Amino acid sequence: MKRGRFITLEGVDGAGKSTSLEAIRRFLEGRGVEVVVTREPGGTPFAEKVRDLLLGAHEEAVDPVAETLLLFAARAQHVGAVIEPALARGRWVVSDRFTDATRAYQGGGRGVDGQAIEGLARLVHPGLEPDLTFYLDLPVDQARRRIAGVGERAAADLDRFERERASFHERVRAAYRTLAQSSERVRTIDASLPEDEVARGIVAMLGDFVDEHG
Ligand code: TMP
Repeated sequence: MKRGRFITLEGVDGAGKSTSLEAIRRFLEGRGVEVVVTREPGGTPFAEKVRDLLLGAHEEAVDPVAETLLLFAARAQHVGAVIEPALARGRWVVSDRFTDATRAYQGGGRGVDGQAIEGLARLVHPGLEPDLTFYLDLPVDQARRRIAGVGERAAADLDRFERERASFHERVRAAYRTLAQSSERVRTIDASLPEDEVARGIVAMLGDFVDEHG
């Protein structure tokens, strides 16, 4: 059985990943590919509980290393129970975020040591990195306007990351951009375009990838 491909979608909060995720699923299914769409943190019942813990509000400040370890705990479960078995069965796995998010949010945003993050990545998913990553790039002020939805979303509805100040999101974006420049598997997408145009651009790139690697 030919191993499936692993595709991830990344970007700052508010970059509009959902429309593109759905477009990717439709495109691949249209090409006869069996697809598993999943997300991080989350993707299994246990990992979804860790997600709730990570995104929910707490009365105490959450230690950045504790946050990083929880993300990798959820990821270990997700890789073992969902991602690896699906790839082994020849399915293509499309994940809304993976370890690049830890590199950007915890490494860039929180200042957690990059070598330590790579060490945890080697422990949790040895030999596994995405085959292709779409990074939806958007200036932080635009992303924040989208999150707030101009009066539609109350501040209390925002998750723990969305509530972070602009300077945090600027560091996350800078880390994503550095990663994208230094990695061949990462394609940068201009997410300031209308969402359906962004999705069309992604599907066009994906078409080339499927023709080459499908
Ligand atoms: P999302 O599902 O809306 O993208 O939200 C998940 C949030 O979790 C988002 O703010 C980014 C954050 N996150 C990290 O900080 N590190 C990670 O490794 C992952 C997967 C997500």
